[in-house]
Amino acid sequence: MRKRQPAEPYRIKSVEPIKLLPREERVRRLRRANYNIFKLDAVDIYIDLLTDSGTGAMSARQWAALMMGDETYAGASSFRKFEKTVREIFGKRFVIPCHQGRSAENLVFSTILKKGMYVLNNTHFDTTRGNTLHKGGIPLDFPCPEVDSDDPLPFKGNMDVLRLEEFIAHHGADEVAMVIMTITNNSVGGQPVSMANIHEVSRLCRRFRIPFFFDCARFAENAFFIKRDEPGYRDKSIAEITSEMFSCCDGAMMSAKKDGLANIGGFITLNDEDLYQRLTELLILVEGFPTYGGLAGRDLEVLSVGLYEVMDYDYLDFRIDQVKYFGEKIKAAGIPIVEPTGGHAVFCDAGKLLPQIPPDQYPGQSLTAAFYIEGGVRVVEIGSLMFGGVDPVTGKKMHARREMVRMALPRRVYTNSHLDYIAEAAERIVACKDDLKGYEIVREPVFLRHFTCDLKALNEESVLVDT
Ligand code: F0G
Repeated sequence: MRKRQPAEPYRIKSVEPIKLLPREERVRRLRRANYNIFKLDAVDIYIDLLTDSGTGAMSARQWAALMMGDETYAGASSFRKFEKTVREIFGKRFVIPCHQGRSAENLVFSTILKKGMYVLNNTHFDTTRGNTLHKGGIPLDFPCPEVDSDDPLPFKGNMDVLRLEEFIAHHGADEVAMVIMTITNNSVGGQPVSMANIHEVSRLCRRFRIPFFFDCARFAENAFFIKRDEPGYRDKSIAEITSEMFSCCDGAMMSAKKDGLANIGGFITLNDEDLYQRLTELLILVEGFPTYGGLAGRDLEVLSVGLYEVMDYDYLDFRIDQVKYFGEKIKAAGIPIVEPTGGHAVFCDAGKLLPQIPPDQYPGQSLTAAFYIEGGVRVVEIGSLMFGGVDPVTGKKMHARREMVRMALPRRVYTNSHLDYIAEAAERIVACKDDLKGYEIVREPVFLRHFTCDLKALNEESVLVDT
């Protein structure tokens, strides 16, 4: 039998009812949403694993802190507390609050990018990619070769340092606006990055004088993996590991909706005073005054508590183990998953599960629709629907590296009993997998098409397959 870690290191004080609609109703609502699960209403969903972003449960301490929000326009004490927290944890001089991760990206890329410049990342998340393209930049990914291996190797989120060095040496450092390390590496399965890899990339960037930033939405989960799996870190605290990680970079952009344990929020933190000034000018234009940056004082209070709570060892130990437990269940149900499981989600390999559906008919979309119809569960495609389209450089049609479906676990929200229910739905889907068919896009926007595009089932009958 599987050795269980201790159970949830918290108890439930407040509950929110959820309801499972009848199957025919779920089919009707999915059709009405043009098969795009982003267009479903929350009340139509039983268990929502769309994202771990902004969907977590706050602690009693955070709810209490909310009342201490200072809503002053300029110089609010809530900002001073937030600034002190961010400085203490991440060790940089300047702190710029903003309303979420993508606004941090927008501010940074609007300020530093010139048309045609490269942004190099272990793997861009969709909004970092979208924001780079939107400002005329060219986003390129340098995931480590291990990412394609089926072996459960540690630190598959790493960057391919050799390829990165070759690229910079070939194109010249002047062409590269920034190197970004996404921790954990969301798009390849929430896989962590090792401290050794962070140090190597940092040295390379310093040698070429290229700014090195983190996209650090899940920094604490990454630090936990370093503590657990990287030699030499077992006796270090999460705070010490975080501090060492951030000593390697020039700055960071954070979506605090993840490891900030908050429902909204983000920030940029950095040492470069000139860049700070330029970012602040834009911040005032588009987000707000530098002591609130698009957030309420109460949000800043919540973050000041959440950023410390997220580094609690028992919390992280349970969190990472819950994701692992869920992964084992989904795999046992017969759906291939990315192994090892990462920090915030189980990634199903829909390409392997549904070989009859080619990438341009979106196997991940087919599995996503099946999860909603079968269980009222919302998951999300992270494959060619999200990352496909036309390459901005070559003009060629692109496919994702892998056709995945992400099941992200909100923090402190669902119990393992919810996850067992989903695993049972997975078993029923696997039983009818050969009958599932693909989808086509009938309308799409220019950027981030997966959010708003309309889809059509290539075989309407396959949607109705009753298990
Ligand atoms: N960077 C990473 C690595 C992310 O995962 C996200 C968001 C962002 C930046 C953007 O932050 O949403 O606050 O604007 N990821 C969410 C997800 C949406 O579901 O993975 P945001």
